[in-house]
Amino acid sequence: MAEGAPSPFTPGYGRKPAIFGGHGEELNELKAVFDTLDFGENHSVLVSGLRGVGKTSFLTTLQDAAREAGWLVISDDASAGLMSRVMDSTIPTLINEMTPATRARLTNLGIWEFSAEIEYIDRHRTVKPQLRTDLVALSTALGGTGGVLITIDEVSSGKVRLRELSKFALQVSHALEDGAQIMVVFAGVKVSLDALLAEEHTTFLRRSREIEFERLSAPETRRVFVETAGLGGRSIDADALDKLVSLAQGYPYLVQLAGDYAWRNDSNASSITLADATVAHDRAIRAVESRVISRVYGDLSDVDQKFLDAMAEDDDRTKVADIVKRMGVSDAYVQVYKKRLIDSGYVHPVGHGYVQFSLPYLGAYIRRRLAAEAHDGGEDGGWHAYPAPDLPS
Ligand SMILES: Nc1ncnc2c1ncn2[C@@H]1O[C@H](COP(=O)(O)OP(=O)(O)OP(=O)(O)O)[C@@H](O)[C@H]1O
Ligand SMILES: [Mg+2]
Repeated sequence: MAEGAPSPFTPGYGRKPAIFGGHGEELNELKAVFDTLDFGENHSVLVSGLRGVGKTSFLTTLQDAAREAGWLVISDDASAGLMSRVMDSTIPTLINEMTPATRARLTNLGIWEFSAEIEYIDRHRTVKPQLRTDLVALSTALGGTGGVLITIDEVSSGKVRLRELSKFALQVSHALEDGAQIMVVFAGVKVSLDALLAEEHTTFLRRSREIEFERLSAPETRRVFVETAGLGGRSIDADALDKLVSLAQGYPYLVQLAGDYAWRNDSNASSITLADATVAHDRAIRAVESRVISRVYGDLSDVDQKFLDAMAEDDDRTKVADIVKRMGVSDAYVQVYKKRLIDSGYVHPVGHGYVQFSLPYLGAYIRRRLAAEAHDGGEDGGWHAYPAPDLPS
């Protein structure tokens, strides 16, 4: 074992984990498509889940598998300018990276112009460039040996973005109708994906395969800890492992963060001990609150937050009827927000008429926040008791 080996854990947004926990079945099915080109229901896929649950890492894992299988990969996020980035930059770059044989096939399709060295030069100006024709040409140039994987991350429900995305989706759906071998994967929180489906031109997306990311199972969480540490050449003591698993609660970001802190506490030792796990405990909880939980909470509207605030009065689960009382609004109103929060993965129903936080530590975070506000005299820092005097005119 190396002395003071660098940590194999990967805390941080968009950092592909060394060991990818969970979602094995979905990954295998999608990877099989890369080899067989037998798409089944996998022409379009929607991946939803809370922040830090592993959506971007899943996309990265797919992209790597697709490239390995000889596919072309177009990956972007759903921000403004998507269409022109893909058409004016990503696709030309892909073409320049192609083998001469593939490029020769592309030349024959007559959409792009190449110089003598068959470097990509420009499009023919006779036809108005459309993503649809580009995609069909790329797919054809692969000559039945591969397809095009398109991943679009960070789908958000902003109006401008949605309109642009739905135009993009329309072009993809036309390319599919024209027989292009394409798999398109969109990732975002559930409410944003639902907003995308509600747009014009996204009919084909409504038939998408939906993959909802929740926390990892306990056995998978154990596996990620043990195998990740193993990659770095260390083992984890049994009691330390139990502690790390209950700390992380299957939440991928927390798994990486807790593993990383425990690793670094004494990276020269051959195993991670209970003492390391105990140190990781406090640091990880604090860090995850500032890096993950506060963002998860901040993503919500005021009313959604009020709903969660009302839930946080209870330690465990909350009676929906109590939320109605605490918020002082109608039952129907509370039902609407309850459904939204369940759909987007923040809370889940337990028993009859009860809800519970899906994300570990969100309740505790809100309780601490509310307590701090009360202590500071409310949201305005207590200043409502000291109005500024009128200045003499
Ligand atoms: N399947 C997994 N197994 C183990 N660790 C994972 C897994 N997926 C992601 N992680 C780790 O979790 C953290 C968050 O991952 P990622 O950035 O992919 O989440 P995300 O869902 O895209 O978050 P956001 O919604 O904020 O974009 C990273 O540290 C990553 O290494
Ligand atoms: Mg992400």
